[in-house]
Amino acid sequence: MTIKIHLISAARPNFMKIAPLYHALMKEPWAEPLIVHTGQHYDLNMSDVFFQDLGLPKPDLHLGVGSGTHAEQSGQVMIAYEKVLLESRPDLVIVVGDVNSTMACTIAAVKISYKSAGSKSTPEGQKGALKSPDLDRPCIAHLEAGLRSFDGTMPEEINRLVTDTLADILWTPSPDADDNLMLEGIARQKIKRVGNIMIDSLEMLRSTIEKQTACSEMGLNPGGYGLVTLHRPSNVDDPRIMPTLCHTLIRISQRIPLVFPVHPRTRKNMEALDLMPLLEKADNLLISGPINYIRFMNLIFNCRFALTDSGGLQEETTYLGIPCLTLRPNTERPITIQKGTNRLCVLDDFEKHVDKLLAKKSSHDCKIDLWDGRTAGRVVESIKTYFHLAL
Ligand code: UD1
Repeated sequence: MTIKIHLISAARPNFMKIAPLYHALMKEPWAEPLIVHTGQHYDLNMSDVFFQDLGLPKPDLHLGVGSGTHAEQSGQVMIAYEKVLLESRPDLVIVVGDVNSTMACTIAAVKISYKSAGSKSTPEGQKGALKSPDLDRPCIAHLEAGLRSFDGTMPEEINRLVTDTLADILWTPSPDADDNLMLEGIARQKIKRVGNIMIDSLEMLRSTIEKQTACSEMGLNPGGYGLVTLHRPSNVDDPRIMPTLCHTLIRISQRIPLVFPVHPRTRKNMEALDLMPLLEKADNLLISGPINYIRFMNLIFNCRFALTDSGGLQEETTYLGIPCLTLRPNTERPITIQKGTNRLCVLDDFEKHVDKLLAKKSSHDCKIDLWDGRTAGRVVESIKTYFHLAL
């Protein structure tokens, strides 16, 4: 008997979360993992190169949704995924992270009824929800559950709240996430702390990452540059903030070289404000398009610090003991602050904090419980427990 599992992948940060799990599930005789790509990210350098780096095959199912407003994108994913669910009838749907597709696939899956779906009724004992005795639909599991910024203006916070409210299994990365879920009244037995799956990808590819020569190819010395990533709407969609942000980066680059791989959303906005020529002219500011996982991680491994608004980068720098300045008023990853590597900043203080960073030697020992490269194994065990009766 096999358990058919949909791994939902959609946007760049999802790919390193599904890869370790896909590889772990492929080793299990009872598991039939299928990769479902919603198409939220579709550019070669936002999607395909990550599949290559992470050793993932082409997606088994592609929804081809693409960009749009929140409602358009989420709605299109729901419409397309509902059809796929009825055709494919997975036993388990695994959603990761907090992007629009995470929420949309969760809503589609939780409202499906296999038995009343009409034409394709599933005979008793056949695949599709029947292995999960109380459900007439797939079981839904959320990997990276429980994170909260408590900032309702973030689209991701809405996605997290909806997903965690509806999912049957909540795999969390840290104790704060367990606490958040329990404070929201989620049953303790649904919550299973498994650790940080992103660290599995990092450890899986560590030796390949370390062999890369990205920074020397760019003429940079290890420990001698800062790495910048910015893509949050709150920073890059506001035409009043963007010019100040760019001028601040240029001034910082006069103290220490900066590498800035630009996200498509950010580039679009900078182009609209005619800011690209200004950045490209700055001597010590290396502007590029999005960079593939292995090369990007090599740049993180060797940077002096990161300036970011990304969630994943706050975690990766903490794990590696690298200072990180996060251009946000809050974070859903408070453990990165507690460990002392990450600091929340406003734009006005950015330069001051860079100067402070550069003035002191920094090296942290940042061990976090269950951030150990073995999270995928714990997820597999949790799935086995959930489907215990049927296995
Ligand atoms: C999305 C996620 C965000 C995540 C980020 C990682 C939501 C609400 N946001 O934000 O949580 O941190 O991904 O990158 O789900 N675009 C391209 N090519 C692509 C993808 C996007 O050009 O392959 C452009 C399009 O103009 C698009 C814009 O980027 O409209 C934004 O893409 P979208 O997926 O809506 O949000 P992100 O900002 O990428």
